[in-house]
Amino acid sequence: MTTRIIGTGRCLPEHIVTNDDLAKIMDTSDEWIASRTGIRKRHIAKEETTASMSAEAAKRALKQAGLSPEEIDLIIVGTITGDYVTPSTACEVQQIIGAENAVAFDINAACSGFMFALNTAHAYFQSGIYQNALIIGAETLSKIMDWGDRSTSVLFGDGAGAAVVTKGDAGLLNFTQGSDGAKGMVLACKNRSNNNPLISTSKEMKYTYMDGQEVYKFAVSKVPESIKKVLAEAHLEPEDIKYYILHQANIRIIQSVAKRLKVSEEKFPISLDHCGNISAGSVPILLDEVNEKGMLEKGDKIVMAGFGAGLTWSACVMEW
Ligand code: UT7
Repeated sequence: MTTRIIGTGRCLPEHIVTNDDLAKIMDTSDEWIASRTGIRKRHIAKEETTASMSAEAAKRALKQAGLSPEEIDLIIVGTITGDYVTPSTACEVQQIIGAENAVAFDINAACSGFMFALNTAHAYFQSGIYQNALIIGAETLSKIMDWGDRSTSVLFGDGAGAAVVTKGDAGLLNFTQGSDGAKGMVLACKNRSNNNPLISTSKEMKYTYMDGQEVYKFAVSKVPESIKKVLAEAHLEPEDIKYYILHQANIRIIQSVAKRLKVSEEKFPISLDHCGNISAGSVPILLDEVNEKGMLEKGDKIVMAGFGAGLTWSACVMEW
């Protein structure tokens, strides 16, 4: 018995910001952004919130799964940009969609958030706890960007992706996950300063900071390493995989992973060109795009992988 995805959904904000739009407000260009990252545009939330996008993506995933909200007993949202410190985004989603029988909580694992949510649901299922889960990766990253820093603000976008998972005979074949807190400050966001009048406050870094090259080096070594590990343990070769659904940070990282695995780049669907990097949202949004296009057939094997702040990483191989 393992964990199977039976429905996917996504929700992106209506407002689209192109690279040329960004070039009007900061010293950048479509040429630089597109050639260094592959990103051409991204969705930026105006009215939408992390919870509203999550709930919309969840409703679509539930519809495809043919389950009612009452049948969901676990909701996990991977996010670093919940609308509130508390309640969690997962509790907001529970309320919006009416999943009154679910237990709901968030996971903070940045760009690995959706993967960690999947692995956590799987662990509950394996323990005999819970039957149907809603796992979501969702971000409103635009609210934690330093819009005066062109090296980070051009990279990210907003959106949510969801999947309904249930116990099944086929599905998750193997997964790996890891963290390296010692390197945490290469990609960080201290989101508020302490206003306690009893202590002196230090200057805080309130928006996202990234040492891009350090994160790049981490990604191009850890992602292929973890994919090779999950495949070897499942007795599969890179060629056996139909699609690699990777976190969408930079086209050059994806090309490097393809090269290191010695598989065609055609096996790597892309959403970063029109979505940018949506942290925890990237993997489930891309999965839903691939699923919606009818690119997946029963029995196909796919790899999903997330990597990013924490540092955190995770990869899995799944039979569709
Ligand atoms: O989701 C979490 C995981 N995140 C990642 O995996 C991100 C990994 N890192 C990367 O993808 C890349 O390191 C970046 C896309 C962030 C940066 O690309 P890079 O090729 O490493 O560029 P760089 O930081 O070395 O900057 C090169 C130049 C610099 O100018 P000088 O010093 O050479 O004169 C930057 O100031 O590009 C400049 N630059 C820009 N120019 C125009 C940086 N940002 C911009 C910009 N527009 N937006």
